[in-house]
Amino acid sequence: MRILVTGASSNIGKGIVARLRAAGHSLVLSDLDPLPDEPQFAGLEFVQCDIQVGFGLEGAAQGCDLLLHLPAWHGMHSRVKTEADFWRLNVDGTFWVLQAARSAGVRRLVFLSSQTWHDHYGKYGFTKRVGEELCEYHRRNHGMRYVSVRPHDFTPWGADYLNRYGARLLYGGVDREDMLDCVQASVRHLEPDLPAGAEPEAVVVDAVRPDVFTEEALEGWEDDPLAACERIFPGSRELLERYAIDISRRPSVVHGIGAEAIGYAPRRHFGTFLEELRTLDAKGEQAVAAMRCPY
Ligand SMILES: NC(=O)c1ccc[n+]([C@@H]2O[C@H](COP(=O)([O-])OP(=O)(O)OC[C@H]3O[C@@H](n4cnc5c(N)ncnc54)[C@H](O)[C@@H]3O)[C@@H](O)[C@H]2O)c1
Repeated sequence: MRILVTGASSNIGKGIVARLRAAGHSLVLSDLDPLPDEPQFAGLEFVQCDIQVGFGLEGAAQGCDLLLHLPAWHGMHSRVKTEADFWRLNVDGTFWVLQAARSAGVRRLVFLSSQTWHDHYGKYGFTKRVGEELCEYHRRNHGMRYVSVRPHDFTPWGADYLNRYGARLLYGGVDREDMLDCVQASVRHLEPDLPAGAEPEAVVVDAVRPDVFTEEALEGWEDDPLAACERIFPGSRELLERYAIDISRRPSVVHGIGAEAIGYAPRRHFGTFLEELRTLDAKGEQAVAAMRCPY
């Protein structure tokens, strides 16, 4: 397919562009700023555009089969961006990009929503609610089929492998490779043409970690987190104590929706993190200390 990617130099953009290229798609990229000089972007068509302005993407959308729409202010911008900033980029920007796509005849859309959608009247969550409504508006009025992807937190974890990557997988975090799998599966899901006369579909999918424990398994966590964790992940206590990993808060159980509809099968969770940590630990504590976020 020919795919228009807005916000191409975002965290997701950097990862998904390489994957979509490798899958043989032809790409047109857009962002507010010029693309960074990175190999996945080499030689690709690029249109610099402020999506809040209301025009500039009509030409880029011509001949495209699918729009992958990424730009948004999100959780980490909440303190520095105003309500109006959130509205202008996440709502107005989304409206204008969808309008450009629909007038160019694009009928497939992957929209990046968020788990913050559940925070209905929060500054960020509200804009994702409206964003999903804009997808639905374009489906009903312009026949645009879509998958709305709602990820948990995958923001870069810097040098904090143990807590910001590892422990986050017990709470509101998802591994970035899993999240990219979800976006790629969404694109793949929309690729086949709709059978004649079929209703354009709307799919919502949670890009979250796999569910590897139940509420019952978490019982007593607040009283003795290490013991509760040891019951679920045998052998965890020693590693958690030695590396001072903070698991004091009771974890959340996730019940993601939509995964089956698009064939999303996340693989990384707190247990796989512990296995990786054990392997690194066998090489020495320096190997653990040297871990850096790869994106
Ligand atoms: N990062 C997360 O943990 C997370 C979690 C859930 C959902 N999401 C959603 O995923 C999407 C991508 O997130 P990310 O972390 O990869 O993004 P990011 O913050 O890394 O990048 C955002 C991109 O938007 C572009 N942009 C900003 N203003 C623009 C404008 N006016 N016109 C055009 N482009 C503009 C920026 O240049 C940048 O490339 C967002 O919609 C976000 O809400 C992210």
